[in-house]
Amino acid sequence: MTLVNETSPIHLRDYRRPDWSVETIELEIDLGIDTTEVSSRLTLRSNPSSSAPLRLDGEGLELLAISLDGSALDVHAYRYDKGVLEVDGARDGSVLETRVRVRPAANTTLEGLYLSGSREHGFLLTQCEAEGFRHITFFPDRPDVLTRYTVTLRADRERFPVLLAGGNPAGNGELPDGRHWARFIDPHPKPGYLFALVAGRLENIQRDYVTADGGKVKLVIWSEANVIDCCHYALDALERSMRWDEQAYGRNYDLDVFHVVATHDFNMGAMENKGLNIFNAKYLLADPDSSTDEEYRAVEAVVAHEYFHNWTGNRVTCRDWFQLSLKEGLTVFREQQFSADSNSASLKRIEDVALLRRTQFPEDAGPLAHPVRPAEYREINNFYTATVYEKGSELVRMIAGRLGQDGFRRGMDLYFERHDGQAATIEDFLSALGDANRIDLSPYLAWYAQAGTPRLHAKGEYDAARCEYTLTLSQQTRPTPGQPEKVSLPIPVKLSLFDRQGTMLPLHLDGDEQADGTEKVIVLDKGSQRFVFKHVLAPPVASLLRGFSAPVVLECDYSPEELALLLTHDADGFNRWEAGQQLAMLAFDSLHEGHHSDACKAWCDALAALFEQHAIDPALLADLLTPPGEIEFADRQSEVDPGRIHAQRQTLQHRLAERIGIDALLARYHALSANAHQHLDNASQARRRLKRRVLELLALVDAGQAHALAAKQYESAPGMTDRLAALGVLVRDRAPQASDALAHFRQRYANNPLALDKWFTVQAQVPGDAALAIIKQLENDPAFTLKNPNRARSLFGAFASTNPSGFHRADGEGYQLLTERLAQLDALNPQIAARLATAFNGWQRLEPLRRHAARLALESLAQREGLSPNLSEIVGNVLQ
Ligand code: PHE
Ligand code: ZN
Repeated sequence: MTLVNETSPIHLRDYRRPDWSVETIELEIDLGIDTTEVSSRLTLRSNPSSSAPLRLDGEGLELLAISLDGSALDVHAYRYDKGVLEVDGARDGSVLETRVRVRPAANTTLEGLYLSGSREHGFLLTQCEAEGFRHITFFPDRPDVLTRYTVTLRADRERFPVLLAGGNPAGNGELPDGRHWARFIDPHPKPGYLFALVAGRLENIQRDYVTADGGKVKLVIWSEANVIDCCHYALDALERSMRWDEQAYGRNYDLDVFHVVATHDFNMGAMENKGLNIFNAKYLLADPDSSTDEEYRAVEAVVAHEYFHNWTGNRVTCRDWFQLSLKEGLTVFREQQFSADSNSASLKRIEDVALLRRTQFPEDAGPLAHPVRPAEYREINNFYTATVYEKGSELVRMIAGRLGQDGFRRGMDLYFERHDGQAATIEDFLSALGDANRIDLSPYLAWYAQAGTPRLHAKGEYDAARCEYTLTLSQQTRPTPGQPEKVSLPIPVKLSLFDRQGTMLPLHLDGDEQADGTEKVIVLDKGSQRFVFKHVLAPPVASLLRGFSAPVVLECDYSPEELALLLTHDADGFNRWEAGQQLAMLAFDSLHEGHHSDACKAWCDALAALFEQHAIDPALLADLLTPPGEIEFADRQSEVDPGRIHAQRQTLQHRLAERIGIDALLARYHALSANAHQHLDNASQARRRLKRRVLELLALVDAGQAHALAAKQYESAPGMTDRLAALGVLVRDRAPQASDALAHFRQRYANNPLALDKWFTVQAQVPGDAALAIIKQLENDPAFTLKNPNRARSLFGAFASTNPSGFHRADGEGYQLLTERLAQLDALNPQIAARLATAFNGWQRLEPLRRHAARLALESLAQREGLSPNLSEIVGNVLQ
């Protein structure tokens, strides 16, 4: 088979300082839907240690004029070929002026300058991370070239009443022929990837904000008129994020304005452009009638994430794209801290760890595995991954845990002090954190360089005669592509010991003088190590890796009784949940092997007892009652049959529902349903979460009754959380009431794209062989289009990545349909095609029939002519 990807990779070790940098850029942009003209004036600085000619990046630009130091250049004095403009005769201090034409309406990639919405009503906007700026003008498009921006926008006033760019407003006015202009100056030097503009008919809501250090800021959220009322929650979340960053990190906002814009046409979640954040509407708009509780929390988290980037990403940016996790991992961590502070810390931790296991662990275990700081890449857009983001955040968390709260803050202060205004590396980050605390953190660099999830093996032995408990920890990481050998990593293990009554024991670790307290962090930094605890009077149960203190897979031979004890008694909400997950895994394995199961009984008994305890937080209870997902179960198997996994997971839940009993479920459902409303406080959200879970369990043991209740809940729901929960039960069960509810929903939300996405998604998640026909029918719905990323994801992303038993059909038709659509999508939007293609990750571990079908589909996709570098890199890597 031929190699699909012919482009050569870029290596971290080849990093060189830029030959040329740009001190200032003046952009004058004449905006139009079909064509836009961009004039740029660059003041150049040459790197004294280099004599290389001036080379600027530029993709798909129609060059209209070019001059150097005031003289138009002769055609022989420059060359523009294969994305590079080379110019002769530039010196330090030279001024290069260019004028180019670009075509926003024809741009379906949603990178560079593009049109969101229709030609008549839509607006223009830009997306430059990672390498979009070169689609707008010629520039050294790399994150270590920091430049001061002056941007002047000109456009027809009628069609583009609102003109925005990053930085502070610096004047506006009228022009002849109904045109107008607006200028923005950004005082903070920034790389091209943080440039942004927006132009069109937009409404706004705003609020004045005074920073802790007395700065006056106007916060403005912009959207199309019909949804402007859905922006208030985001504005609140923005204000809360700003306060939090002042209090937690002493970081103030640094411009006079902070603009946020919502668009329905966006490849990712949102973008932290300096002073002009742009959001996928899905993560900005929220209202009770069309957003679920989870979506409200996601809006809050993404608003915070983008805001926090102002310091971790913008003020201190990345030297090169290998350092992406320097800003992303750190900013995810900061967002997780903020969300933990604003809501429930243990629920947030559960949610984040579940996400890590569902998305990052499979990535780390398959052909797409790469380190948090990759050593090479071909297409940078393929590296915005769960590994860089979520595992990256776990690494920061481990280090923060090592330093303690005050130590981490000291380290962050030093990091900002040293690197404000710079493009930094992960080494810089670790040095600052370490230096501020006189600790050498360099051993943690290995975590950034090594792919794969370490397996932490734990074995406990109790010596009754000596009253000693010995814990032997060892680690092993399996080979990943390109990394056959693995090194030992420092693994912090937070632990407690419980006696058999469920009481925490004081810890006396041998060799640790100040040993006291009931919780402790020990660090495994070799292949294997023994830790001896003294004065332990009876055989204890170890609660290990509390709070998920390291991103590893824990292997420990717990008995079902030991896990049930932790599930019942562990005071730490996260580890209580974790014990339940481990116990459910044991239960699942024993079902898998087909024999009678103590683990299943222990799991059901413990949960049934907790179900009766009214003191427990209903949201935590809902999570405890949810076993690991199908993807997590599949991750543990060497030969995966997704249909069988689905069936066994259902069996497991069925046993649980049976054990709790129809009467108890019904009683709880009714209690939780009394005077339903849509208040957003934690307690109300928690009740809704448990209500959904109870309804789902009830549907397993008394479908008729559960479906009748769901239909009623659908009709009388005060908001989207209850409505979608009910619809989900009806649709996934293919209940007789499902079609009426679906028809109603389709009509009710015909003009609400975010709500309609959910209508596509619930149906795409119907388990088993029924899914394919549903997908094919939904594709023909007039509202379906591959051009809109949210819509494409709502159908094909949901099908391929969240519905294993539906997608992985034994006949391979799921694979054929997806690869067909990927090829079509690739012609429109390569980034989205590449991302959806990652659904094939893990195909090598499928049972033989499916594996064969997946290989055929992937190979035929790989052999198509003209695939984008994005999609061919993913397909090529997945096939390896
Ligand atoms: N930097 C954005 C974020 O995580 C993500 C993003 C990457 C958006 C590339 C668009 C393009 O906050
Ligand atoms: Zn980010």
